[in-house]
Order: sequence, then structure tokens, then C-alpha cells
Amino acid sequence: MIRFDYGTVTSTSDIAGRLHRLNPFQELLVTATSQTRGRGRSGRLWQSPVGGAWFSIVCPLDRAGVEATALPLVVGLAVRGVIEGLGVPSAIKWPNDVLVGDHKLAGVLCENLNGRAVVIGVGINVTNPVQDQWASLAQHLPDPPTVSDVISMCVGRIEKLLPVFLQHGLTEDMREGLARALAWRGEAVSVERGEHTSTGTLAGIDQQGRLVLDTKQGALKFEGGEVRRLRPVVVNCSTSSLEFKKESPTWAREKATHD
Ligand code: BTN
Repeated sequence: MIRFDYGTVTSTSDIAGRLHRLNPFQELLVTATSQTRGRGRSGRLWQSPVGGAWFSIVCPLDRAGVEATALPLVVGLAVRGVIEGLGVPSAIKWPNDVLVGDHKLAGVLCENLNGRAVVIGVGINVTNPVQDQWASLAQHLPDPPTVSDVISMCVGRIEKLLPVFLQHGLTEDMREGLARALAWRGEAVSVERGEHTSTGTLAGIDQQGRLVLDTKQGALKFEGGEVRRLRPVVVNCSTSSLEFKKESPTWAREKATHD
């Protein structure tokens, strides 16, 4: 893997895409100290000041396409493994976030380049300042690692898991790891997909990386969407009836790029 370290860039994933066009068969790693137009999911802006780990890996594919739903989970598993290894208990929020408690510490954005390569973008808050709803490693570790060490550890783990995943898909080991790491498993959640919201119990992740939701109508499977935990609220003390209220707001730091 050839590594390119930059200062400030628009987005490491943009640079990675451009470098890939010049060298289509090479694995590439692009890092930056800050990004002016970091991209998050669903067109959201990913704020990326100095102090965070912002990097993108280009992975050429020897066959067309990749299991798009499962890939961010595998990367999330690698990133979460590093974070846990540092002593910070964390969970994977399907499909691409790493949470500490209910606060988002890291995000993964996988983008397909013409079916022949994938750009894996990873953002991790290390010592950069964060707002409510967000977490950084520095908040949880008296002596946080350097950004460079965080990137090296994550890339090392990704490099181990990725070839296995590309050859075999989600292995039993990966599925077990995901089941252990999955946030809100067995809890009441909503899944928003466009205009449509489904509610039920978060049952787990299937072989393709889809989220399985147990609902009154039976099991539903999702390839994408926004999961929110539902908090039970007592609405009638005499009958002890319960309703559920959305708990996790949209991550406050992510603003629509089209604002
Ligand atoms: C998300 O949770 O919405 C995904 C965030 C991914 C952010 C990373 S930072 C490095 C890479 N470059 C980008 O522009 N985005 C990803």
C-alpha cells in the first residue's frame, strides 16, 4: 500500500479517487491533518479539524463490485477493535458508526469507484474538540495516542480483515464480532429509510450485513437507513402503558452540505 500524507485537503476520499485514476491497480492510503469538505453519509458535511484521524484507503477489486452493505461493518469492526484495544469500551451502530455510550466517536464511508475499486473513508475523533453527541479518544483516555498511531493501528487491522472479507464475505468470526459489538441489540429502535419509518426490536445482522428488525409484521431486513434507539416513556400511570420516543437525535455536528 502506498501512503500519501497531506496537510489540509478538501477530502481524503476525493484525493484518493484522483490518485486511483493515475494508478488503478495499486492499494493507496491517503491521510490529511484536516479537511475542508470532509464527506459523511447522506451528503452530510464531516467536520475534520486538526487533531482527528482522517484517512481513505483505495482498494482495487479483482471482480466487479463488493458487498456494499457489509463492507462498512467490516471496517467498523477493525476500527472498534483498535478503540477497545486502547481501553475505551465501544459499540458499532449499524451500518457505519462507532459509538462510545451514545456518542459517536468514528464514522466510515465506503464509496464505489466504477465497480473496480472502493474508497474506504474513515474519520475518528482523537484530540480534536467535539460537540454534544460526539466523543473523542481524548475524553476517555488521560494519555491518548497520536493521530499517526491511531491511523497505523486501524490500517493494520483493516489490512488484515479486508482480504478475508473480499474472498469469503462476512465470516463466522466477523459475524460473531459484529453480534458482540452491535449497539442496541435486543432494544426497541426505529429505522428510517427516506419517508418510511419502521419500528421494532433490533435483532441483529444477517450474512449480507443487512440489519434485521423484528416487527409486529415479522422480520424486516434493511440494506441502508438511519437507526435510532427508542426510549420507553410511561404515558398513562394507571394502565402503565408505554410509548416509545426517539432518543438519539441526528448527530449535531453533521450539517447538510446543502444548507
Ligand atoms: C459518516 O459517519 O457519516 C462517515 C464519515 C466519514 C468521514 C471520513 S474522514 C476521511 C474520509 N474523507 C471524507 O471526506 N470522509 C471520510
